[in-house]
Amino acid sequence: MNTFYIKTYGCMMNVYDSNKIEDLLTNSGYLKSSNTQDADILIFYTCNVREKAVHKLLSDIGRLKTQNTKIIAVGGCIAQSEGRQLFSKIPVVNISFGPQTYHRLPQYIEEVLSGKRKRIIDGTFYKMDKFTECPKKINVNFSEHVAIQEGCDNYCTYCIVPYTRGREYSRPVKDILDEVKYLLDNGAEEIVLWGQNVNSYHGDAPYITIGQPKATWRIERLLQEVALLPGLRRLRYSTSHPKDFTLELMKVHAETPVLVPFTHIPVQSGSDKILKQMNRGYTATEYLAKLEKFREICPNIQFSSDFIVGFPGETDEDFRDTIRLAKRAKYTISFSFKYSPRSGTPAAKFPNQISEIVKEQRLAVLQKVLIEEQKKFNMSLVGKIQEVLFHKVGKHANQYIGKNVYNQSVVIKSKENMIGEFKNVLIKSAEENCVIGEIA
Ligand code: SAH
Ligand code: SF4
Ligand code: F3S
Repeated sequence: MNTFYIKTYGCMMNVYDSNKIEDLLTNSGYLKSSNTQDADILIFYTCNVREKAVHKLLSDIGRLKTQNTKIIAVGGCIAQSEGRQLFSKIPVVNISFGPQTYHRLPQYIEEVLSGKRKRIIDGTFYKMDKFTECPKKINVNFSEHVAIQEGCDNYCTYCIVPYTRGREYSRPVKDILDEVKYLLDNGAEEIVLWGQNVNSYHGDAPYITIGQPKATWRIERLLQEVALLPGLRRLRYSTSHPKDFTLELMKVHAETPVLVPFTHIPVQSGSDKILKQMNRGYTATEYLAKLEKFREICPNIQFSSDFIVGFPGETDEDFRDTIRLAKRAKYTISFSFKYSPRSGTPAAKFPNQISEIVKEQRLAVLQKVLIEEQKKFNMSLVGKIQEVLFHKVGKHANQYIGKNVYNQSVVIKSKENMIGEFKNVLIKSAEENCVIGEIA
């Protein structure tokens, strides 16, 4: 029996895809290996959102490949954007498969193992056949992701995702509800609805009224319906675009107890000039007004965000606008990156590219501000009781780490096994990146 090992990079979409690949290969008679040394088949499921991704992949393949390795397959976003060039850049690769083709991987592996073909490349956009061709999840976890939407039509000028994941596609409502029901029936308690632009979801409704044009549901309706499914204790969704936050979605947050009062609403920059050049479709004022409205409708809502510093043409003044926004928005957590030029995207050719040194300086300044805000929020939880779902053990004896509704890490000590448990925790102290508590 041939064994396989999957190394996954990038976003949650890749984690979701990798789980599907694992089930597909298991169903086709391959055995999952816990380490790379024993694996016959090495699968690298890649991300290409920032530069040097191919370089890093090349070095990882060199490090992990052994004499036992029979096949090296590269999937995901590098496979899609590199195309044939991948074989010249990394000659040991046998199979290159884009994100919409992974349901064909068992067949491709078979073809290479049997000697029928030496090298296979597939970058076809198969109109999401993969969702219907994949088996049901074999090992259901207490927290599960369900992809509801994929691809992106927004074309932010810096971003490679529209070219690697393709145009926006929303899965039909019925398929999503069936998948969520199956996961809940088999032990899942937390569901994360996932997509590249999850709040622009518009899927075919589960029923058609005779004489009516095809009905669609938007994210608001889907969340309400998923929230009613028996067994669900916590519902999240990610990742969103600010333009798709409607008043209705804010109301759904206020009225749906299992839906967490927390959402990721990436701003990228606080400068109107840069936001325009990024093609984000909002100004800083419009963005902040949206947060304010959200807080008015749903008073316990909290936000997280993404930032890019050093976008072409970003002046000190533009950067100051970003700092100002970071302070005003009061995020519970933020992710910030140096702008990374991606070949094939418009911004890579914009004039006034910013030097690496300036990018690094700005990133450090921004991160200091964001961490301060994060710490303030963490401190505000001290003395409060939070519901926590525990998902892993800590570094120290009897230590468990879980997530509260705001997706923050909560650390406790316990003699009992807490993994997969929901517990009320009294927060006793706060650190930069987590809060510490005890079972209430
Ligand atoms: N769809 C989401 C984000 C998807 S990519 C949105 O619109 O916000 C995840 C994050 O990677 C982005 O929010 C952005 O901050 C970062 N990112 C994307 N392309 C980048 C690039 N070329 N350089 C640096 N960061 C980038
Ligand atoms: Fe990329 Fe923009 Fe689409 Fe997000 S919305 S995936 S940043 S193009
Ligand atoms: Fe990376 Fe592709 Fe996700 S480029 S961020 S793995 S969609």
